[in-house]
Amino acid sequence: MEFFVTSASPSRQRTDCAIVGVFDKGVLGAAAEELDGKLGGQLTKLAKRGDLGGKSGDHLLLADVSGAACERILLVGLGARGSFNRKQYRKALASALTALAKTGARDAINYLALEEVKDTDAYALARAAVETVGHSQYRIPDHKTSNKRPKSKLSRFGIAAQRSERGAIERGIAHGRGIVAGTSLARDLANQPANVCTPTFLANAAKNLAREHRSIRVRILSEADCRKLKMGSFLSVTEGTAEPAKLIVLEYNGAARGGDPIALVGKGVTFDTGGISLKPPAAMDEMKFDMGGAASVLGTFKAIAALEPQINVVGIVPACENMPSGRATKPGDIVRSMSGQTIEVLNTDAEGRLILCDAITYARRFKPRAVIDIATLTGACVIALGNHISGLFGNDQALIDALRDAGQRADDRAWPMPIGEEYADGLKSNFADFANVAGRDAGAITAACFLAKFTDGLKWAHLDVAGTAYVSGSGKSGTGRPVPLLVDYLLHQ
Ligand code: BES
Ligand code: MN
Ligand code: ZN
Repeated sequence: MEFFVTSASPSRQRTDCAIVGVFDKGVLGAAAEELDGKLGGQLTKLAKRGDLGGKSGDHLLLADVSGAACERILLVGLGARGSFNRKQYRKALASALTALAKTGARDAINYLALEEVKDTDAYALARAAVETVGHSQYRIPDHKTSNKRPKSKLSRFGIAAQRSERGAIERGIAHGRGIVAGTSLARDLANQPANVCTPTFLANAAKNLAREHRSIRVRILSEADCRKLKMGSFLSVTEGTAEPAKLIVLEYNGAARGGDPIALVGKGVTFDTGGISLKPPAAMDEMKFDMGGAASVLGTFKAIAALEPQINVVGIVPACENMPSGRATKPGDIVRSMSGQTIEVLNTDAEGRLILCDAITYARRFKPRAVIDIATLTGACVIALGNHISGLFGNDQALIDALRDAGQRADDRAWPMPIGEEYADGLKSNFADFANVAGRDAGAITAACFLAKFTDGLKWAHLDVAGTAYVSGSGKSGTGRPVPLLVDYLLHQ
């Protein structure tokens, strides 16, 4: 997709389709107003007849226009003028793109940002537009032999703006493109079935990134390597499967040598059956998404390789399957983590924390200035926050604030949650240093408290993306979250 900026008036600009906004009760937006003048009041007439509702998400296609330079006009409802914000803008544009895909238009121009959009700026709106277009163009790497969704014909997308905003918009487009590339990679990986997306497949995806980008280096550690490193906790999770586990290590170097890196640690459980603490069958297929954290790390690397921020980043992805078998770890087994701390595995389904703790310990060798882990860690987080907002935990207020702010700017929100001694007490074990689970209460918090036991002296944050990394139901798919949050955070360093 080609993106471009234009400052010509809607009636003068040639395009297959002009996307213009209408507010509540048929009140024309600025671009519609200008077009209306050239069309002899045709749009006002439509509004008077009640054909232009202006309700958020509504749209009306005028497929044959004469009097203006555009071939089509797509009128989209923006809702109430007073509450038109970036979220409404994304929603209106997404709805316009769905309608546009049903036409033969090869190019289009988006005039929606000419309206007054609350609490945002031209840069963020351009970035949001590129992301929305990217999202609408995304296709699941499907394995269907028929009924394939047709590719849209749209190949050029214009963003209308005041001349003075050009620079900001070009920047928004560039950042948006990077985020789309990263998010799409993360979605592709997550959407593959677990018999395709194995730990080896993730390792190959990382190698491909290193091949494509000179700024990225990658190293793949085998189970034997991990054994030498004494990663007893990580290895305990992969005992039950025939599929070899991998520890994937990525390095992005954008800053001079010596700049301490930010470490991103992503949970890469390519399928989570629960192990001997087997999950119930309903929706178990969705546990192919249990590598969403890993996917977001690879996606973030893809994005930053394109955007080239002057920072250093390391990515660490422990990747394995969690399967039951005659060799699998059993409830009550005690394992020794790379940190030296022993863990009683009371529930083999609490495996994410077992692989992350060793990956976090491994991250120490890079002397990171911050460690951020990303994981589809707990069903409890979905109970707490639903599917809209990721759980955000950590031991450093500045890091937590920075990640929350990044999520806010990126429309990929994360919300701060507490950790603390009171909660960690639930992890007490009679047999080992601590157990891998506490009671049923506050499951997202006790999981974070478990991870916190491995973060002494580190600035650490944890994103629980169990509710946000994928959607269930008829639109079942990986979302690519929290790539937008992470990229925004890194661009601000
Ligand atoms: N991968 C799951 C968490 C999960 C649940 C992600 C639902 C997405 C949707 C994780 O490994 C898990 O099984 N967690 C357990 C922890 C429990 C045993 C303490 C859970 O949430 O039930
Ligand atoms: Mn599990
Ligand atoms: Zn899991």
